[in-house]
Amino acid sequence: MDVVKYPDPVLRRGGKAVTDFDADLAETAEAMFRTMYDQRGVGLAAPQVGIELNLVVFNSVGDRSNRDGEIVMVNPEIKARKGKEFAEEGCLSFPGLYADVERSTSVVVDYYDLQGLAQNTKFEGFEARVVQHELDHLRGVLFVDRLSSIEKLRVRSQLQEMEQRHREG
Ligand code: CO
Repeated sequence: MDVVKYPDPVLRRGGKAVTDFDADLAETAEAMFRTMYDQRGVGLAAPQVGIELNLVVFNSVGDRSNRDGEIVMVNPEIKARKGKEFAEEGCLSFPGLYADVERSTSVVVDYYDLQGLAQNTKFEGFEARVVQHELDHLRGVLFVDRLSSIEKLRVRSQLQEMEQRHREG
């Protein structure tokens, strides 16, 4: 599984609702975890590997030895949010680029697990940040869309380099 890099238009397509909670879905999630760990990420959304589904995997420890920290979210939706804070984020679709993003400090999320069971979980701090970042991917929203004008200016040349590399294939 390869991670799609900015500015590939695939990243803007987002995901569609998952309807089949079958073995294929579980295999996709497992392959996404492997890719995420290989790339030293803490979260990965299906559109980032070219799959247009509302499917997200994350492990805020980012370590495959901590399988207890693994969470798979299918068709997730943020139902409530609280607080605001800025912190640095990166994204596997933007290698080497880091920028401050404002996010809610806690979120309550409705989602389904791989068995199709409805879940409702509150996430706080770093986990809440990861959840908001990954759920954005499902709507084709990227973290660079959420930067302040000062941060946008600061990373502009890095983004332009990525765009040029993409044009050159
Ligand atoms: Co990302």
